[in-house]
Amino acid sequence: MDTGLLFNGYLGKRAHLGVCGSVAAYKAIELARGLQECNVAVSATLTRAAARFVAPLTFTALGVDPVWGDMFQDDADPYAHLAPGRTCHVLAVVPASANVLAKMVHGLADDMLSCQLLAHSGPVLVAPAMNPAMWEAPATRDNVARLRERGVDLVFPDSGKVACGDTGNGRLAPVGAILGHVCRLLSPQDMAGLRVLLTLGPTREKFDPVRFWSNPSTGRMGASLATAAWLRGAEVTVVAGPCSQDLPSGVRRIDVSSAREMDAACRDLWPAMDVACCTAAVADFRPVAFGDAKMKKDAVGPDGFVVHFEQNPDILAGLGAAKRPDQRLIGFAAESHDLDANARGKLERKNLDMIVANPVNVPGAGFAAGTNQVHVYDCRGGRESWPLLAKTEVAWRIWDHLAAI
Ligand code: C5P
Repeated sequence: MDTGLLFNGYLGKRAHLGVCGSVAAYKAIELARGLQECNVAVSATLTRAAARFVAPLTFTALGVDPVWGDMFQDDADPYAHLAPGRTCHVLAVVPASANVLAKMVHGLADDMLSCQLLAHSGPVLVAPAMNPAMWEAPATRDNVARLRERGVDLVFPDSGKVACGDTGNGRLAPVGAILGHVCRLLSPQDMAGLRVLLTLGPTREKFDPVRFWSNPSTGRMGASLATAAWLRGAEVTVVAGPCSQDLPSGVRRIDVSSAREMDAACRDLWPAMDVACCTAAVADFRPVAFGDAKMKKDAVGPDGFVVHFEQNPDILAGLGAAKRPDQRLIGFAAESHDLDANARGKLERKNLDMIVANPVNVPGAGFAAGTNQVHVYDCRGGRESWPLLAKTEVAWRIWDHLAAI
């Protein structure tokens, strides 16, 4: 997933990394940096084998504190084996070796990391990396199943070519995906049990087989909302127009192209949802198609090149019309003038619980920007203006606001 979609409001949270002996051990450094960017404090324990692949000093130099190694280092705190359990909100073993998985199953405690794992009663995540034969071995299969039964969060390894040259499952999952899972364990699960539908991105309306009418929406605001809802425990379905947003693997994604396809997908999904949020920049009009043949240059007539448009369905209004009293619906509005009146009008007309309006032409807001400046109106008559914020922060606040109305 795109780590730029992660929220950075984890000040006061602390993660402990367990690093095992694997060629992938260096990727734990990237994970530590990603967590620090989200404002998570990070400490680490390297097994003896891990310290052969990557230097503990690298972690220390990057602000990981403390960094532990052997159990009986001369200057070691005699209770270091209890420290993560007392102070950390999550313990993530990345990369996790077959050995540590087996030790966790049986409660072996013969080095610093295995003692710390045994003494940690909070959330634990493992991201295994090993040779495919070791990963597929019946003992490892059993161990993984036992750990999952106990509630350990597992980020499955990818398949591909591993360091020794073999091909199969066993490559460490991408660091972005692991980072997302660690952040999820650090997030409030206040949206658990909610089924959330999001539309995002542009739509494409074809003129002929190779040309279309569209807009520059990147889907970033919608992807931030989808990611924030997923981090907070929701079951998220995204209906995405053509865009390259990379979403967490736990988010269900349905790719569509035109407004009519997006409309059909949303109508189909809506009855089984608790919340929908329409962020897609849907083309209000579509060109009347010229048929299956590619248009030719000589199609230009005396009035120039004439294209007729017809109206697309208003997806948001359709969901509003079909909304049950137990469902919540959020719309977006980009306005160039009369923002207040237009936003309030849409809130009512489309039967919304909330509308998020942003003035167009504000520097740093709108299409493709990493930030947004919005005004929020709700069905209880509330109106709030938020400062220019990262879209991830805007997304987080939108879900907070929905919960509060
Ligand atoms: O009426 P207006 O197009 O300004 O409303 C914008 C809101 O409606 C956005 O939430 C957008 O995703 C949604 N919309 C839609 N279908 C359309 C046009 C807009 O769902 N055809």
